[in-house]
Amino acid sequence: MNGRLTVVGLGPGRSDWCTPAVTSRLAEATDLVGYEPYLAMVDLAHQARRHPSDNRVEADRARHALDLADAGGDVVIVSSGDPGVFAMASAVLEQLDQQPGRWRNVQIDIQPGITAAQAVASRVGAPLGHDFCVLSLSDVLKPWSVIAQRLDAVAAADLVIALYNPRSSQRPHQFADAIAIVARHRLPSTPVIVGRHVGRDAEHVVVTDLAHLDPDTVDMSTIVVIGSSTTRVLDRPHGSSVYTPRSYAAALPTEQTRVAR
Ligand SMILES: C[S@@+](CC[C@H](N)C(=O)[O-])C[C@H]1O[C@@H](n2cnc3c(N)ncnc32)[C@H](O)[C@@H]1O
Repeated sequence: MNGRLTVVGLGPGRSDWCTPAVTSRLAEATDLVGYEPYLAMVDLAHQARRHPSDNRVEADRARHALDLADAGGDVVIVSSGDPGVFAMASAVLEQLDQQPGRWRNVQIDIQPGITAAQAVASRVGAPLGHDFCVLSLSDVLKPWSVIAQRLDAVAAADLVIALYNPRSSQRPHQFADAIAIVARHRLPSTPVIVGRHVGRDAEHVVVTDLAHLDPDTVDMSTIVVIGSSTTRVLDRPHGSSVYTPRSYAAALPTEQTRVAR
């Protein structure tokens, strides 16, 4: 009998940011597979077998989960945030792609979660309110030259940029290099949001700008959102809000064209 493999996103940390659909899949699971700190976030009333693994072993973890499901388990593999954003959903599908005959009968289901960029954005307002992109600065699975070229392209395209995996202890200098690339296309006053451990006890969110962004406030538990040319900081009595307007100046009808229409 073949089982089911559900790939779920737990959200960024808070249990009430985890969807009911994910919670019910977790409640049905016979086996839980995942990076150890993410598995520790799962609190279950029943006894599921837990299969914790180390970071950076996504392919092994995916194969292990598929084998457990192939043996009949109702297996849940957990990611933080959304499982389709720099996480396990791709790792599982990559394994299925590489070995088309194997795990043929395993039912695959992917349940979404709130990704970290959405969580950080919600804490300060609506910086992702207009066109934006997400980019991982990790060069573990892609070369730095590709990252640098993409940063240059999206900065030139005036997209709001949400940076995942922004600064690790193995490559601390690359974050400053990344910001220097963006700064070629953006004003020093461009709003920047640094959100660390969002939705967790240690949450810390700072609104700054490109000129004053301190790399030492950024690590692998952080998302950095860099505004576009239209992103604004709105000062209000109870604090400031950051937003990117939905209307784009160049697209708005001028008085003349409005009359002509
Ligand atoms: C491998 S990616 C996983 C992303 C995850 N699947 C998601 O959708 O949020 C890990 C990166 O996500 C970001 N991240 C995840 N959770 C976060 C949180 N609670 N607060 C801030 N950043 C977070 C950090 O940039 C971290 O280095």
